[in-house]
Amino acid sequence: SRLVAVLTAAGSGSRLGCEGPKALVPLAHRPLLWWAARALAEAGTTTIVVTAPAGAVGGFRSALGGVGAEVAVVAGSGASRQASVANGLRALPPLDADDVVLVHDAARPLAPPAMIRRVADAVRSGCDAVIPAVPVADTVKVVVPLAVGLGLVERTLDRSSLAAVQTPQGFTWHTLRDAHRAGAARAADEGAAATDDAGLVEALGIAVHTVAGDPAALKITRPADLVVAEHLAARART
Ligand code: CTP
Ligand code: MG
Repeated sequence: SRLVAVLTAAGSGSRLGCEGPKALVPLAHRPLLWWAARALAEAGTTTIVVTAPAGAVGGFRSALGGVGAEVAVVAGSGASRQASVANGLRALPPLDADDVVLVHDAARPLAPPAMIRRVADAVRSGCDAVIPAVPVADTVKVVVPLAVGLGLVERTLDRSSLAAVQTPQGFTWHTLRDAHRAGAARAADEGAAATDDAGLVEALGIAVHTVAGDPAALKITRPADLVVAEHLAARART
C-alpha cells in the first residue's frame, strides 16, 4: 500500500506571536515546515500535500526544497484545523481504500521518523486509525469558568488513564475519508470542529489505537516551545 500525507500548515500562529505564518518560523536555520516534511519523507512518505494560508503558497513551495518526497502546496486555510485538513485531503492523488494516509502538523517539526514509522506500520498491520500518545505529566481537572481569570473545579480526572496525543496520526484512506465526510456534515450542523482527526474516527464508532509517542514530537505553540525545540535540534546534530 502507498504512504501519503497531509501536512497542515494553514494556521496563523497567534499564540506564538510570530510575524507571518508559523510554519515559516525558523528552527535551526530551517522553517518548521521543512523539518516536518523531511521527517515524513524519511519515514517513507512518497507524496505530501501541504495546506498553506492563501498568499503563502509560493513562499511555502520555496521553503520545501530538498525534503525528499513529492510535495504539493495548496491554498487550504479553513475556518478550523479540521477544515484545513479536509482541503488537503481533496488535493491527494487518487488512492486505494487500504492506502495509508498520515495527517501531520507543521507545528510538530521534530516528530522522529522512527515514531512516524510506528504509526504507519500499525495501520499497515490492520488498524484503521493509529495515533502516537504520551502519558500526561500534569494533573488534569474539569473546570467551569466563572469569570475572567476565575474558575470552579468540577472534578479531577484519573491521570493514569490519560494520554496526550501527537501527530502524525495514521489512517486507512477509506476510514479518514469517511470520518472527514461525517465531520464536515457535523461542522455544518453544529458548528463544532474536532481538534484532531482521530476524534472524527471515534465519532463513527471505529476503533482508534495508540502507539508510543515521543517527547520530541512536541507542538510549537508558545515561544517557550521553540526554545525547547532549538535545544532538541542542536542535540540531535551533535
Ligand atoms: N492549522 C490549520 N488550519 C487552521 C488552524 C490550524 O492548518 N485553521 C494547523 C496549523 O498550521 C498547525 C496545526 O494545525 O500546523 C496545529 O494548530 P496550532 O498549533 O493551533 O497552530 P495555529 O492555529 O497556527 O496557532 P494558534 O492556534 O496559536 O493561532
Ligand atoms: Mg490553532
